[in-house]
Amino acid sequence: MIDKLKQEIKNKTVVEQLLFLSEKFKDKIVFSTSFGQEDQVITDLILKNNIPIKVFSLDTGRLFEETYKVYNKTLEKYNNKIKIYNPNTEKVEKLLSEKGPYSFYESTENRKECCGIRKVEPLKRALSGNACWITGLRAEQSTARNELEFFEWDENFKIIKFNVLKDWTLADINDYLVKYNVPYNSLHDKGFISIGCSPCTRAIKKGEDIRAGRWWWEDNSKKECGLHETTKTEENLLIIKTSFRIEQAAKEE
Ligand code: ADX
Ligand code: SF4
Repeated sequence: MIDKLKQEIKNKTVVEQLLFLSEKFKDKIVFSTSFGQEDQVITDLILKNNIPIKVFSLDTGRLFEETYKVYNKTLEKYNNKIKIYNPNTEKVEKLLSEKGPYSFYESTENRKECCGIRKVEPLKRALSGNACWITGLRAEQSTARNELEFFEWDENFKIIKFNVLKDWTLADINDYLVKYNVPYNSLHDKGFISIGCSPCTRAIKKGEDIRAGRWWWEDNSKKECGLHETTKTEENLLIIKTSFRIEQAAKEE
């Protein structure tokens, strides 16, 4: 299936690729936006061209004010609804009551627990029932993403992932945003390249890796949050186990 899809999108423009997939996976195709610069390009491509692909975002509850601003500007520009998924209230209440608001700084396990509650579980709900998931991942973003493919089978979420901007550079993204006057997160003008939750994201210095500002207190090999861990590494198993434990505990209560 994946090999066939790779062949089928060959020689198509980005818009043609999105249109083709929207027909192929009718009503079962979604795009996840974090309102970062890559995602704003994809949102523009989908909404401007009225391509029937559902757009959703995960509101972790810890996003930057600037992220909400670009989210709002996006709604105004395209006059379109973006489906929002929030974390499970009981799980957040339990986490905060037991461990406080900054447990993620204490250990990778705690950090993955928070990401599990605020991102992975809501993502699971957002993807369920769908067959194709479009993301703004790019090969240039980190060494872990160097080997990125256009299409990947995501074993965690049991879905085909399409990384439509795989080969775009940061300059390509910026050119597009300027050319088509697409709203973008104002933090990008302040040295923030990859933007996630506010307590876990900082600006980067010149020469630093694009993702150096994410979970900067952890070593590089651990820097994924569970949204994009398609291979079963030890870290990946840790987050699956942690999420599973959280789910089990919730069921037992
Ligand atoms: S992360 O795994 O480190 O958080 P990153 O910020 O690089 O991911 O974003 C990569 C892609 O993951 C985005 O293009 C988007 O498709 C998806 N993504 C990340 N964060 C969110 C979010 N909060 N809501 C929806 N999608 C997201
Ligand atoms: Fe929690 Fe930080 Fe992960 Fe956001 S990025 S879900 S605040 S650990």
